[in-house]
Amino acid sequence: MVSYKDLGLVNTREMFAKAINGGYAIPAFNFNNMEQLQAIVKAAAETNSPVILQVSSGARKYANQTLLRYMAEGAVHYAKELGWEKPQICLHLDHGNSFELCKSCVDFGFSSVMIDGSALPYEENIALTKQVVDYAHQYDVTVEAELGVLAGVEDEVHAEESHYTKPEEVIDFSTRSGCDSLAISIGTSHGAYKFKPEQCTRDPKTGRLVPPPLAFDVLDAIMEKLPGFPIVLHGSSSVPQEYVDIINAHGGNLPDAVGIPEEQLRRAAKSAVCKINIDSDSRLAMTAAIRLTFDEHPDYFDPRKYLGPARDEMEKLYKHKIIEVLGSNDKA
Ligand code: G3H
Ligand code: 13P
Ligand code: ZN
Repeated sequence: MVSYKDLGLVNTREMFAKAINGGYAIPAFNFNNMEQLQAIVKAAAETNSPVILQVSSGARKYANQTLLRYMAEGAVHYAKELGWEKPQICLHLDHGNSFELCKSCVDFGFSSVMIDGSALPYEENIALTKQVVDYAHQYDVTVEAELGVLAGVEDEVHAEESHYTKPEEVIDFSTRSGCDSLAISIGTSHGAYKFKPEQCTRDPKTGRLVPPPLAFDVLDAIMEKLPGFPIVLHGSSSVPQEYVDIINAHGGNLPDAVGIPEEQLRRAAKSAVCKINIDSDSRLAMTAAIRLTFDEHPDYFDPRKYLGPARDEMEKLYKHKIIEVLGSNDKA
């Protein structure tokens, strides 16, 4: 058993309380490799922003769970080396799908876990979430739960259509499960294709897809039921069209990729939404930079020469999200 406290990590309790009161949101960035982690830590340290490092089951499979955990521990030391005296870094399991997985992360030094029972029947979601909460809280590890289903693919959770969170269920769910924060469904979804073209309109000038707005009425109704309770938004990449254009112009093929406009995320960040999950945008930044580098330098074969620019681009993206969208800069 390793306590996250001994690793210099923090849980989400204080981060979220401050974020709700301050009208900003904490960035939750997924990482699978060293370059992503370096870029996240550098961006957070240089903007003085609290940050959540997210590890999915897929990341655990890809990069090895032990290595990822030591990388997160290393991230705290790296942040200090960068001059961040008291790093506010949380290590979080993204979309945990079983009690055993959540327990193993708690035992392994994670400071926060998500148990995603959103595809289960309501009572089973409560029971599973409560089981994780009862275990995690013994070690002061915070627990995120999910109610409502996002469209698209949620790791092993699949849903053809999104089912918005029902505001009338949130009091009962959060009280009985004991969760510390609640991920809700108000129209976001995972990946780079958040809406089908037929759900969007087109900007007549640019021909770009304009997605439908998020269901802020549902968010408002949830906040009215649970005043001051931490709300989480998954699937919050904006799918920057600059990256999509670079990718498509340099051998890629991402037709009609579309995300959540940043303006809507800014609005959400000012509310009780205190954690905003971003993964796809970092993938796009990395892919765009690598494709561009390969096109411009067909002679490159040293990975540092293309992963270096990719890392720089991701750092730029993370800083942009922190400063221009979530408003978490200077809050650590
Ligand atoms: O929620 C999904 C995250 O973007 C993680 O994705 O399962 O491909 O690592 P992944
Ligand atoms: P995106 O695919 O929109 O980046 O969402 C990531 C996410 O929700 C991770 O849990
Ligand atoms: Zn997610």
